[in-house]
Amino acid sequence: MLKIAIFISGEGSNAVKMLDNYSKSNAIEVALIYSSRPNKHLKALCKQLGVVFHYSLWNENEKINLLELCKKLSIDWVILAGFLKLIPESFLTHFPNKMINIHPALLPKFGGKGMYGMHVHNAVIHAKEVESGITIHYVNGSYDEGQIIAQFKVAISEEETPETLAVKIRALEHKHFSDSVAKVLIPSRH
Ligand code: GRF
Repeated sequence: MLKIAIFISGEGSNAVKMLDNYSKSNAIEVALIYSSRPNKHLKALCKQLGVVFHYSLWNENEKINLLELCKKLSIDWVILAGFLKLIPESFLTHFPNKMINIHPALLPKFGGKGMYGMHVHNAVIHAKEVESGITIHYVNGSYDEGQIIAQFKVAISEEETPETLAVKIRALEHKHFSDSVAKVLIPSRH
């Protein structure tokens, strides 16, 4: 059984989806949810599911504690789902090519520091793009620059707004993230 940790900073809807999608898996177990912000909903859900939930500030001390917790829980992979912090070298060394992120745009466009949430969709609409989508990629030491694993696209209509695009992108994430991660973690099954 591969044990994964999911790191979040926001609502955590992708983490909730993954908890549900993998709850019946005999190959992937969500063993830890780490949030860099308080999250009552995820804390309660993890309690109900018997999954470790850990909240802490993202400071030097807590980064060390978090890595120790991942080692203690024998975490094999780290999935970033709306995690807004830059991953330090210590994690990249311990999880070489074993960290995956999801970005709500078609990288390499509309990525990098500060490009998250509505900032992304505002930029895509402002650039008059005819399509957008999601990018699932390996994590390296820079924001949104790791090797791309998969991309899924959605057309942008004439009257599209950043808000309507955000809804379409969220649906795409919830549909594809879990399967895309599973294909990387257990390639033999796909
Ligand atoms: C998603 O748009 C994801 O692509 C980005 O952050 C958002 C996370 O949303 N990295 P949620 O916290 O999973 O609802």
